[in-house]
Amino acid sequence: MIDNIIKPLLLEDETYTKIGRLLEQEMAKGLSKTTNPSAKVKMLPTYVRALPNGLEEGNFLALDLGGTNFRVLLISLSKESGVRMENKIYPVPEKIMTGTGKELFDHIAYCISDFIHEHNIQGQHLPLGFTFSFPCKQESLSVGRLISWTKGFSCSDVEGENVVDLLHAAIKRRNDISVECVAILNDTVGCLMSCAYLDHDAEIGVILGTGTNACYMEKLDKVELWDQDKAEPSQVVINTEWGAFGDDGCLDFIRTDYDFQIDERSLNRGRQLFEKMISGMYMGEIVRLVVVECVRTSLMFSGVLGRFKERDCFKTKYVSAVEKDHGRGSFENTKRIIEQMGIKEFTDSDCSALFRICQAVSIRAAKLSSAAIVTLMNRINRPNITVAVDGSLFRFHPRFEGVMKETIAEMYNFGHQFKLMLSEDGSGKGAALVAAVAHRLKNN
Ligand code: BG6
Ligand code: GLC
Repeated sequence: MIDNIIKPLLLEDETYTKIGRLLEQEMAKGLSKTTNPSAKVKMLPTYVRALPNGLEEGNFLALDLGGTNFRVLLISLSKESGVRMENKIYPVPEKIMTGTGKELFDHIAYCISDFIHEHNIQGQHLPLGFTFSFPCKQESLSVGRLISWTKGFSCSDVEGENVVDLLHAAIKRRNDISVECVAILNDTVGCLMSCAYLDHDAEIGVILGTGTNACYMEKLDKVELWDQDKAEPSQVVINTEWGAFGDDGCLDFIRTDYDFQIDERSLNRGRQLFEKMISGMYMGEIVRLVVVECVRTSLMFSGVLGRFKERDCFKTKYVSAVEKDHGRGSFENTKRIIEQMGIKEFTDSDCSALFRICQAVSIRAAKLSSAAIVTLMNRINRPNITVAVDGSLFRFHPRFEGVMKETIAEMYNFGHQFKLMLSEDGSGKGAALVAAVAHRLKNN
């Protein structure tokens, strides 16, 4: 009976191949001038055209907003000692995430000021790279207009605005620090840059965390939207914003009742439908909804819901913990989590059911992201491709990476080599690298 409930989450290999093809069509729509305005997968040019060459130098500040943690960072790049970094995490209360834009940027400016005073660097005028992990239409390296909020943010009066201006205005209101934001970048771009610094085959950057998205290096002649300088290098990093894949209904054939429920109750209804099937902000909640269905039909926990009835209380980190029990011969983590969810009496078969639900949801997420990565690899079509990956889902889930490697190897039939590379602090290192380029261009 549980099999019947999880069946809609188990997709055939051909379905993933079909999804890859659909994404390819959506990406082509996003890149074409005529179809871009109505395209859901926006394929945004980022103005990042060269990957780092290891010669970048200097001290930089960076901001990282939009993942699990908001951070301020201080980074030194040098040819001799590489990258040195210090950072501090600052909480962003939910009230600020859903309040006004002014409150958000005043809070960010306060955190930068606190960080600068703590490090006693008030006297230095440091360039800042802003990793802002939301869809932005860029007009240059330092101008990015927010298209729409995603994930848990919904601050008023920011959509359509240049986020860098809003940051500068907040810094000016404080009048106690001297900071200039020289670059704004998506987290996927930071992720790609930090790997490309070490591996010259890195051409794709993927985030599998609170949200999901990817960027890749595209040839300028394929980017009709690019009406800027076509000088060498004739390429530009494209932020795909693939989280919005399916927003025109093209993925409805695989969406389950649980996916529809997740969307109905979200802050951004009808948007980011691909992301809502994959990323950490939603995976735990999908599992909870499946469990609720099993309990409702008395297939689990003798019909007792406990805290499973509370929305968002089954976190994606619990999905990872439950799946870590795989192959251990005991349900150590699973039992602890079921108890935390307020269920006092349960059997091994309840544990096994919870494991199977988590596994079904995770495998679907890992295979969907793999199909999307293969679509990008086919576009790039090079003999060796390194895919830079970051995000809590990829880092902490015990089998996500393994399932991805298997699926990509099966789907990627060009016989070329690929590598998944964990990106080390894209929002720090990557932001500093983009800021270094922007700073150099500005002072040329
Ligand atoms: C981090 C990057 O490692 O991964 C962030 O530094 C990025 O920039 C994040 O947003 C994504 O993962 P998560 O899980 O924090 O959303
Ligand atoms: C969301 C954002 C996107 C970001 C991703 C990962 O999809 O829209 O810009 O890259 O989350 O953080």
